Formats: sequence, C-alpha cells, structure tokens
Amino acid sequence: MKRKPLLAGNWKMYTTAPEAQQLAAAVAKAANKVSGRDVMVAPPYTAMAAVSTILSDTGVILGAQNVHWEEQGAFTGEISAPMLKDLGCSMAIVGHSERRHVFGETDFMINRRISGAIQFGLIPVFCIGETLEEREAGQTLKVLEDQVRAGLAGIELADGGQIVVAYEPVWAIGTGKTATETQAQEVHSFIRSLLADIYEKNIAAQIRILYGGSVKPENIDILMQQDDIDGALVGGAALKAEMFERIICFQ
Ligand code: PGA
Repeated sequence: MKRKPLLAGNWKMYTTAPEAQQLAAAVAKAANKVSGRDVMVAPPYTAMAAVSTILSDTGVILGAQNVHWEEQGAFTGEISAPMLKDLGCSMAIVGHSERRHVFGETDFMINRRISGAIQFGLIPVFCIGETLEEREAGQTLKVLEDQVRAGLAGIELADGGQIVVAYEPVWAIGTGKTATETQAQEVHSFIRSLLADIYEKNIAAQIRILYGGSVKPENIDILMQQDDIDGALVGGAALKAEMFERIICFQ
C-alpha cells in the first residue's frame, strides 16, 4: 500500500511574522507544482496567524511545533489544540528531540500531548529518535521501542489517518549527518512492525512514518525511494525556499 507522502517544514525558533509570510508564500507556490503529496509548515506561534492567512486555500497544511493536552488552563507558556485549530492549524509536532533533550519533556508528557491533540482533532507528528551514544551502544531499536510504546500508551487509533510518526535520530538533527537510506529504512520498517503489534497490521500500513535529520535536496530522492519512508520532517533546509521546493518536488 502506498501512503501519501508528507513533506513537513519545522521552522523552529526562526522567522518574524513578516519573514514567515514571505517564506509561506514561496512554499505555497512550490507546493502548487506537485500533486499527490501533502506539504506542511510549522512556524513559530507568533507567526501562525500571519502564515494562516497566506496559506488559506493553498492546500498547504499549517502545523504547530507543540501542543498542550488541556483545552485551557493555568499553564503559562503553553498553547492548546483548540487555540491552534482556531488559527487553521491541523497538525502538531509532539516530542521533538529539542523538546525532549533541551526542555526535558518526558515520554509521559509526550503521551499526554498526543492524546490531547487527537482528542481535539489535531494530527500529532510524534517524533522519536536515539542519541549517538545509544546508537553506538547498539540500543537504537530498544530505545525507539520504549519511546513508541510509552508515547502511544492508551492511545486508540481507529485508522491510520490520525497520527504521523517521525523518526529523527538525534545525532542527525542539525548536524549535516544524515542516516543512510538503508539505516533509515531499517528503522522505519521496525517502527511499522511495532505499530502493527500495538494496533493492527492494516492500521500500521496506513500510518505515515517520516524521516528527519539533515534532510536536504541532495538526499531527499534516495530517502523517498525506501518502502517505509513516507516523507520528511525538515528543519534547516525548510527555511530556504529554494531548498524546500526541491524537497517537495522529490522524484
Ligand atoms: P534538520 O532538523 O533538518 O535541521 O536536521 C530536523 C528537525 O529538527 O526536525
């Protein structure tokens, strides 16, 4: 079964609202050149309203970089799924490696964020990935299995459209080092078998698994040729319109 590719740009803590609007307009123009694939951008919260205006009616999906599990409440610095939906947002990155490793988010918090996103109708882009130390110690699959099982604990999925998984090896994020297509495919196929074990084979077959970590114009084509790689979560190269365009237009 072929899943619809998803090319997602994570803009992290970059772009003011005017800069974000300019970049969003360029992405929308680029996305127009291809069909049969989804394109998503996740600007910083401060630029979301501005980007939402640019993206309306373009087919480009507006995503958030995180989401809280409650509808509202005394949670300083957090933002809820209904607030995001109100801005036209339909996806939210959850458990990004920077959230886990720089801000100390735990599997438990990530699980709650996933659950909240789904409850309020946002599609979570659930990120997992091993550190270099863990890979070198031969623990990659074990670490990923623990992250997947903890992140998805108690989460029911009726069909595969409600969640996206992103495999982002920590050692490949922002370092210029990409997992080889063989390394990535091996992990993606493992994640899919794990999803089949947690849910069912046909649900696992529908879930898109993205690769992230130094994705660029030079490696997107070969990555996308792998059976279990259904798209990419792109950081640095998503901030350059011409690079992201080449990624969207992968062959
Ligand atoms: P990168 O970031 O493409 O700059 O490595 C990917 C990510 O953090 O999602």
